[in-house]
Amino acid sequence: MSAVSHELRTPLTTLRMHAEMLQEGLVAPERLPVFYDDLAHESVRLSRLVENVLAVAQLEEGRRVLQLRPGDLAAQIRDIVDDQARHVERRGFPPVELALPDEPVTVRSDPQAVEQILVNLLDNALKYAADARAAGLRVELAALADQAILRVQDRGPGIPEADRDRVFDRFYRVARERDAHTPGTGLGLALVRELARGHGGDAVAAARPGGGAELQVRFPLASAAVRPT
Ligand SMILES: Nc1ncnc2c1ncn2[C@@H]1O[C@H](COP(=O)(O)OP(=O)(O)O)[C@@H](O)[C@H]1O
Ligand SMILES: [Mg+2]
Repeated sequence: MSAVSHELRTPLTTLRMHAEMLQEGLVAPERLPVFYDDLAHESVRLSRLVENVLAVAQLEEGRRVLQLRPGDLAAQIRDIVDDQARHVERRGFPPVELALPDEPVTVRSDPQAVEQILVNLLDNALKYAADARAAGLRVELAALADQAILRVQDRGPGIPEADRDRVFDRFYRVARERDAHTPGTGLGLALVRELARGHGGDAVAAARPGGGAELQVRFPLASAAVRPT
């Protein structure tokens, strides 16, 4: 509760202060674009935070049942990355490098859950690999014999081996000097893993070859037996 409340306070304070300054006419016209940008950015952050908290609570209380329907995961991923393009650009990253198979990748998935998974992974990459933004982000989907693997890769500091399992625990955050002021609740990856498992798949963290983080989410292919874990 205190981790979440603390995280709510920062964007709310920015929104209130900015709104009040605009109201009082205290913002010079040339500073307006920055103000509008901050307002948009903080509201997006606030909505995503609230969505994550609600999603975790709904799963916990058994109130959310994933609606799994066969569909092309590659097309879903392309749409989500397209939708996030502006957000990525605003954070100073080049467009996401997208590597998708030519053939459709049919999985039984809940499109809203897939979006929550990918948005959380992209948000983390934008946040933790900000210093390596010039190297950009890569999203890859590969279809193996019985599963599809989604990989989200950055060139940031990566996730230390000792933390690679625990980052999926609720509220767990890697204790790192450089991230001391990076906002977050530690709920994102817990949600990612729970949603992946709800599809009969899983989520794991790995080291990206050549440096950086690689987050993998596995989905059983629709042709394979679906056994939720
Ligand atoms: N792409 C990444 N690069 C480096 N560290 C990461 C990355 N993604 C996640 N982490 C680490 O895993 C922790 C848990 O992630 P998450 O559950 O999304 O929580 P939050 O982003 O709110 O801190 C983060 O606090 C961070 O320490
Ligand atoms: Mg996160």
